[in-house]
Amino acid sequence: SKSYNITLLSGDGIGPEVISVAKSALQLVASLEGIEFKFREVPVGGAALDLTGVPLPEETLSTAKDSDAVLLGAIGGYKWDNNEKHLKPETGLLQLRAGLKVFANLRPATVLPQLVDASTLKKDVAEGVDLMVVRELTGGIYFGKPRGFSTNENGEEIGFNTEVYSSHEIDRIARVAFETARKRSGKLCSVDKANVLEASMLWRKRVTALSSEYPDVELSHMYVDNAAMQLVRNPKQFDTIVTNNIFGDILSDEASMITGSIGMLPSASIGESGPGLFEPIHGSAPDIAGQDKANPLATVLSAAMLLRYGLGEEKAARRIEAAVLDTLDRGYRTGDIYSAGQKLVGCKEMGEQVMKSIDSKVATP
Ligand code: NAD
Ligand code: IPM
Ligand code: MN
Repeated sequence: SKSYNITLLSGDGIGPEVISVAKSALQLVASLEGIEFKFREVPVGGAALDLTGVPLPEETLSTAKDSDAVLLGAIGGYKWDNNEKHLKPETGLLQLRAGLKVFANLRPATVLPQLVDASTLKKDVAEGVDLMVVRELTGGIYFGKPRGFSTNENGEEIGFNTEVYSSHEIDRIARVAFETARKRSGKLCSVDKANVLEASMLWRKRVTALSSEYPDVELSHMYVDNAAMQLVRNPKQFDTIVTNNIFGDILSDEASMITGSIGMLPSASIGESGPGLFEPIHGSAPDIAGQDKANPLATVLSAAMLLRYGLGEEKAARRIEAAVLDTLDRGYRTGDIYSAGQKLVGCKEMGEQVMKSIDSKVATP
């Protein structure tokens, strides 16, 4: 039977709670599909800081690099919020993304029929939304230099960062986006701030130039401020969106709310080669951590993306996705997606119900 090494990075806050559910789902689906998983659990973020003094220990990165795929919960928390930059949990996550060279972050946002009522948008606006944000993940203002703290000519403290993109960084993310759009509805919207920022001017120029190689994809451009507005005005106008690191971070959180909750949205981060990194788009949710309130479905769906994009195990991926739908069909809801008449459950119980669905014939793809 096929055997894969999976690195599990629980991280902080609700991370361990949601990873525990996703791990069980992977184990169960493996036994049903004749796959074997060898899990290695290593620390990242605040958990790693507390254990080793750094947010991404060398052993964590080397374990991740040596595996077939990496599943991460979330990092961060109040305890480390005032740490110096190189000792922040978030820095560990950025080092991990850079270390794995996973430049393309796929963040799907789909309004499930079962959750239309959980959306804050009107039913006719939210119903049927199915979009994919392709976020550049290893460049832009998150990594640009120069950056730091200094003083200006008035002796005043300043903090500064640099939004920078090279042509090859833009081309490779644009290619992923064109390919993604091609497999979906054939519509790609590139979101930038080319009316103001040089990095965006180059972005628009390179994306436009590449579009001649993808005549079957209909390319449009939109400024990010308008895109933020259009996403809540009429989200169905979008299919695939490609954008830079920071705009993609913000727009994907916005898109999550169309679908009902940030607790539902998974992601896949892919590079040219090597293992992919799979994580929910949400954070460590310190406000509900340790209370068994977290929605584990974003991480369970990230495990499905791991199977599909990381391992090519399409059938196993679909089995997990079908189980999530079946669990929702049976009325189970965590607090973030709860509406009247449904069954309110915690993280663990939601997990148990997903296992039940995976096990049942109903969920067989
Ligand atoms: P967050 O995503 O952690 O939480 C925002 C809100 O959404 C909170 O009210 C939270 O309770 C809720 N929420 C998030 N995930 C949920 C889930 N699965 N189920 C139910 N409710 C959920 O964002 P934040 O509060 O801005 O950040 C908290 C910490 O997480 C910070 O330290 C931040 O840096 C970190 N963070 C990490 C990641 C990551 O690990 N990829 C992503 C975003 C934020
Ligand atoms: C995310 C998070 C991270 C990001 C932070 C925690 C570094 O917000 O995964 O969306 O900004 O990419
Ligand atoms: Mn984010």
